[in-house]
Amino acid sequence: MSELSEFLQYVPIFSDLPDEAIERIAKIGYVKNFDKDSVILMEDEDGSAMFFIIEGKVKISRISTDGKEVILSVLGKSEFFGEMSILDGLSRSATVIALEPSKVFIIHRNEFLELLTKHPEISIPLLQELTSRLRTADMKIKSLSLKDAEGKVATVILQLADTQGKVRGGVVEIDEMPLQQDLANMAGTSRETISRTLHAFAKKGVIEMEGSKLRILDYEKFLEQYG
Ligand code: CMP
Repeated sequence: MSELSEFLQYVPIFSDLPDEAIERIAKIGYVKNFDKDSVILMEDEDGSAMFFIIEGKVKISRISTDGKEVILSVLGKSEFFGEMSILDGLSRSATVIALEPSKVFIIHRNEFLELLTKHPEISIPLLQELTSRLRTADMKIKSLSLKDAEGKVATVILQLADTQGKVRGGVVEIDEMPLQQDLANMAGTSRETISRTLHAFAKKGVIEMEGSKLRILDYEKFLEQYG
């Protein structure tokens, strides 16, 4: 099995497919590399392909009417993007930029739609992932409309804990926190507020920070208070 097929096997939406189907998918798409900070796709352009992240990390963002960047999500290895235009035929809903040098696997619209028809079992994990993204978006709407600065920052910390946290005896550790400006754009607040709030949380003994690591010291309590 090729390196690409091995990667595809571990993409959650393909994990139930037999080896022959995985080999076929490897042949219908292609791999492309993107430098750090390069734009992979732009909001409002026509979309004709879907992307799977082999290596690297991307941010999904939109620019608000007052020119501020709003980060909707950060995606990493084995996750996909670009499915919305493929499924509804409308233009790209957001801009996707590489946060690190990134390698992606690209499948064109017709091939992906054909794959869904041939292997309808893909649609269940696909819908589960889309549902999970909708839940995260619901959480964000609640956070933006109801919460004060602490609540907004805590919501972003909880989202990161959910997607990349490692649990060790009640403590949840996030290895690589985004830059403070990116955290601000995720939380819908300013970089200064992020810095102030993180320090306030650390002073209260709720979190611990060390380099790019952040630990939530009592995850259950944090979730109860801010979730
Ligand atoms: P598409 O609209 O084709 O292009 C932009 C992509 O960003 C979109 O497909 C999704 O894959 C992704 N995207 C848009 N909104 C969100 C969101 N709220 N959470 C995660 N990914 C998103």
